[in-house]
Amino acid sequence: MRHFLWFIDYKKEEIEEIIKLAFQIKKETKAKIFKPYLKNTQLAMIFEKSSTRTRVSFEAGINQLGGNGLFLSSRDIQLGRGEPIKDTARVISRMVDLVMIRTFGQERLSEFAKYSRVPVINGLTDLCHPVQLLADLMTVIEFKKFDFRSPEKTLVSYVGDGNNMAHSWAILAGILGFNLNIATPKGYEVDNFIKNKALEFAKVSGALINFYNDPKLAVKNADVVTTDTWVSMGQEQQKEKRIKDFKGYEVNNKLMTMAKKDAIFLHCLPAYRGYEVSEEVFEKYEEAIFAEAENRLHAQKGLMVWLKK
Ligand code: CP
Ligand code: NVA
Repeated sequence: MRHFLWFIDYKKEEIEEIIKLAFQIKKETKAKIFKPYLKNTQLAMIFEKSSTRTRVSFEAGINQLGGNGLFLSSRDIQLGRGEPIKDTARVISRMVDLVMIRTFGQERLSEFAKYSRVPVINGLTDLCHPVQLLADLMTVIEFKKFDFRSPEKTLVSYVGDGNNMAHSWAILAGILGFNLNIATPKGYEVDNFIKNKALEFAKVSGALINFYNDPKLAVKNADVVTTDTWVSMGQEQQKEKRIKDFKGYEVNNKLMTMAKKDAIFLHCLPAYRGYEVSEEVFEKYEEAIFAEAENRLHAQKGLMVWLKK
């Protein structure tokens, strides 16, 4: 049995298999062919944080695969009143076939997985957001012809907070071998453990991963420019300070001129215009951004089928 907690546990070939399956199921879905790959499969979806995309894509996805989704907000279940994670895991995993969790610390997710009898999927933690990156990867394949055989041809630039999205890009680049520039303000750099892991993987895959404090340097010649909110869920108290500290990190037209002419811009959403991205840039690249959002559905269907194979 495999869990999907972070990319660190995954080999390049496995990520490629999941993506292949996702594209196959996407093609079928577009042709209105809904094969019951996960007939009678119960997916519990535990949310300790808000969500639009993750909730809708997992719930619609499992239904389209012939299964059923149970939306469990921590506001409503005993977990929110202090029932231990390990007890919650031992109960829920005797009743369902798959679990998706969105929570705070990565250790809450690992604790659940440790006590679970069924595969557990990371639906976002403070540390990483790997299901989002599966969708982003599909989008880069579709819009920028990313190729698993020649990953070095793609340069992704992430500008902004050294958060769960930056961490996921770093590890994925390291494993797959594409090039990645990350620009963060001083004091908001990516976690050292993640940085070292990404560089360790990069030694094997050949990925060139660079860390900057200057967005212009990071975006130069990029095929894909991406960012994320400056104020992640759980950081609301730091909003004012963060907005000051991230001055100069907005992805706007001026910054985009540093990237390749045919570059795309991606955003995991929700996006805050006038902060991490300008309204102009957001609307100019909306086709790729909303294709990316739609790919959440397809990517996670591929992942769920792969985990239950
Ligand atoms: N990108 C993403 O995970 O969106 P939600 O927070 O709406 O699920
Ligand atoms: N970094 C953001 C991503 C939201 C999908 C957060 O954790 O809130």
